[in-house]
Amino acid sequence: SDPLRLGIAGLGTVGVGVVRIIRQQAALLSARTGREITISAVSARSKGRDRGISLSGYAWEDDPVTLATRDDVDVFVELMGGEDGPAKDATEAALKAGKHVVTANKAMLAIHGQALAELAESKGLTLRYEAAVAGGIPVIKTLFEGLAGNEIKRVMGVMNGSCNYILTRMENSGKTYQEIFAEADGLGYLEADPQLDVGGIDAAHKLAILSSIAFGTKVDFDGIQLEGIERVSIEDITAAADMGYKIKLLGVAQKTGRGLEQRMQPCLVPETSPLGQLDGGTNMVVIEGDAVGQIVLRGAGAGEGPTASAVMADVCDIARGWSGSVFGQPAASLETAQSAQSQAA
Ligand code: NDP
Ligand code: HSE
Repeated sequence: SDPLRLGIAGLGTVGVGVVRIIRQQAALLSARTGREITISAVSARSKGRDRGISLSGYAWEDDPVTLATRDDVDVFVELMGGEDGPAKDATEAALKAGKHVVTANKAMLAIHGQALAELAESKGLTLRYEAAVAGGIPVIKTLFEGLAGNEIKRVMGVMNGSCNYILTRMENSGKTYQEIFAEADGLGYLEADPQLDVGGIDAAHKLAILSSIAFGTKVDFDGIQLEGIERVSIEDITAAADMGYKIKLLGVAQKTGRGLEQRMQPCLVPETSPLGQLDGGTNMVVIEGDAVGQIVLRGAGAGEGPTASAVMADVCDIARGWSGSVFGQPAASLETAQSAQSQAA
């Protein structure tokens, strides 16, 4: 069969990882999917930058929208990031031009995911985003495919590695939040806008996406009760430890009598529990289904290899001909508790 031809916009940590896998694992990918996976064109901000990989054989486009709509692109792979701007413009342009889309962009999906999924569905196209939640952990496929026979009762977890790193370092070193924040920033662990991490916003983006899939609801980022880790003091951490607990930035989404409850906030977890033992930059997602019981997924939530691994899983799905968007179907009957409250107010 014909090769599956990609256009990749964004050649940073994740984009470079994707190019590397395609170059190094061409035979394996083709054997697994039954199709050769090729790259037609790439785009990034600065053409001249040395990215440590060869881009020979790929056309270069300065404009991601032009890249996304090229005739020789079957799948637009969006790895630039950002809630709006070129990521959203190029994703929309790709879908309107009849291209499937794979993205790692949780910020864009948490705000515009519903509209983008509806656009994809209206065109019979596939929009996939395994890398957007918990990096290398295949949590979206687990929820959507592996647990398709379950009514999901609850999804919870630690979904921001930077916050978990800061909290773990505070525990281990006895240093203040401000000292460890500066250390993490210096090591390049935080987003360009660190507020996305420490304000809990990045983790909440991920929770909004997971909730939508788990409960079949519209993506509702504004419905999340959100608190970051900036006010967690070393005294809080010490007092928690004295009682046998750790403080984690924990996301929880569950059905309640008032609708869907979504919370992302610092929580006490028993230090002997799986979540309590999750140190450093690792992620963990715990899913409870009516038939399966509890599932615990743990792994790298960020980084070149893990995130590119998740992007490639989506690309392989499309190469195999698996179609459809994995966003929850709009279920008017299950509003979020907060949306229901604000409508009543
Ligand atoms: P980087 O900042 O490393 O790379 C971003 C890339 O996008 C760069 O190559 C940059 O170009 C390019 N870019 C930015 N703006 C434009 C533009 N206007 N036109 C063309 N190219 C542009 O980001 P990451 O690789 O870390 O992240 C990519 C996506 O993956 C984001 O949505 C992020 O949230 C998500 N993600 C990242 C994870 C990680 O571990 N890094 C984990 C999970 C998800 P140039 O290089 O020339 O500056
Ligand atoms: N800033 C994010 C984190 C990157 O620390 O988890 C991966 O999404």
